[in-house]
Amino acid sequence: MTESTHPLGTVPQDELIARADADPLRPRFHFVSPAGWLNDPNGVSQWNGTYHLFYQYNPEGAFHHRIQWGHATSTDLVRWTDQPVALEPSAGPDADGCWSGVLVNDGGTPTLVYSGRLGEQELPCVAVGSADLLSWSKIPQNPVIAAPPAGVDITAYRDHCVWREGSIWRQLVGSGIRGRGGTAFLYESRDLRSWEYVGPLFIGDASQGDPAETDWTGTMWECVDLFRAGGGSLGTVPTSGDAPDVLVFSAWDNGDTRHPLYWTGRYSENTFEPTGLHRLDYGGRFFYAPQSFQDQSGRRIMFGWLQEGRSNAAMIEAGWSGVMSLPRVTTLADDGSLVFAPVPEIEKLRRDHVGLPVQELVPGAPVPTGVSGNQLDLELDLQLEPGAVLRLGLLGSADNGVSGSSKEETVIELRRTTEGGSQGTLRLDRTQSSLDPTVDVDDKAGPLPMPDGRVHLRVLVDRSAVEIFANGKPLTARVYPTLAGEHVSLTAEGTVRLLSFDAWTMAEIFGEARNLFP
Ligand code: FRU
Repeated sequence: MTESTHPLGTVPQDELIARADADPLRPRFHFVSPAGWLNDPNGVSQWNGTYHLFYQYNPEGAFHHRIQWGHATSTDLVRWTDQPVALEPSAGPDADGCWSGVLVNDGGTPTLVYSGRLGEQELPCVAVGSADLLSWSKIPQNPVIAAPPAGVDITAYRDHCVWREGSIWRQLVGSGIRGRGGTAFLYESRDLRSWEYVGPLFIGDASQGDPAETDWTGTMWECVDLFRAGGGSLGTVPTSGDAPDVLVFSAWDNGDTRHPLYWTGRYSENTFEPTGLHRLDYGGRFFYAPQSFQDQSGRRIMFGWLQEGRSNAAMIEAGWSGVMSLPRVTTLADDGSLVFAPVPEIEKLRRDHVGLPVQELVPGAPVPTGVSGNQLDLELDLQLEPGAVLRLGLLGSADNGVSGSSKEETVIELRRTTEGGSQGTLRLDRTQSSLDPTVDVDDKAGPLPMPDGRVHLRVLVDRSAVEIFANGKPLTARVYPTLAGEHVSLTAEGTVRLLSFDAWTMAEIFGEARNLFP
């Protein structure tokens, strides 16, 4: 049996799988790697009907090292079949890791563009696939770009967004210019192999805003992703009104993975003219390195990496690390920002249902929901009067379901401003989510547009993974309860009307034993 080494010793492969499977905090209806480490989604796509999800993978253990490309396929975006590792480091420019990248269709040939890592440097590499996308060959010309642009003092240089305009391929590589800010370098090619540097598409300004803020753009942009909102092709005249182009990036600073942001604006010729900067997910680093694609029905679907909020030692002990988000459909809101919802296919996993009647919640008096579970899909419609607050408690350890009376509870809070109007706040309070003092419990919050005080709230709880969508604004985070609490509570301050409440338990997606090397 092969054994792997890591900072805490040696874990045999079957022991790694056994530890991961035994962890009650491991999600059951989100994609996770068979065991070991997972980070960014890569090569997300639909090919001849089949969905492909590749991911940054270390099957040796739950730590980031010598990264390979794990691979899974699905016919419905719900259940995933493990496929053989697609890319593995080998002698040459990716000897130290096959870092993030994308999949494109090169006239029928599946082609990966990724960052090969050698020593401390990453450079663009290409691999071509068999017709079934299961075996991949690296091309002899790697790296296809020999060095970052000359004469620019960069902070880092990696990750790719590749698309076609007529007979020309265009590519963005994420980077940062020291002393200025994050950027995306633009390149052009006729064959995906020989690339010509065009220039920086757009340069951020790291001196703008407070580096402690949740919308600071960072000193480097990881995982840049450029697309036309509402469908349509990049570089063409927009057909649907003035649908903006969107440049998604993950703000990074000196090794610190900060948060995903996006610019809306217009990409034309060799530049991107921004009109607005937006937070992509109020959970910040808990929805990191997102990558999106347009599926065959025309939907823009995005995946992100739900990082852990526990220590490196705890991850290694658990035998696994990292959760893939549920696939999200993204659409354009009236105000020109993006809104998100889990793909409707996820509803297939719904099992036992509990509903509650329409009612005005009595302030301060907890509503017995009759709902419990740690794999749940909750859907609520609410109306809040000015100044009102709604608290939805999850994973509560007390059996009376009274918010605040549990030893552990994770609380989602919706608050409408006292002045009324259509503004409010979405907040995730994790301060009581775990008795373990070592886990991340930072406050997560963001502005919530609520016309007439109305909120549509969708919450997916999958053990340690929580994905919240309030009027399409996502907030994703991780929680690590120690008491196995499963109670769902509902309390109000001020006047809150419950217009609908539906809860379902969710089935798990992996039935059979999985293999580290499928
Ligand atoms: C983002 C990232 C990418 C890189 C990959 C390495 O999380 O740091 O920039 O390509 O992960 O695993």
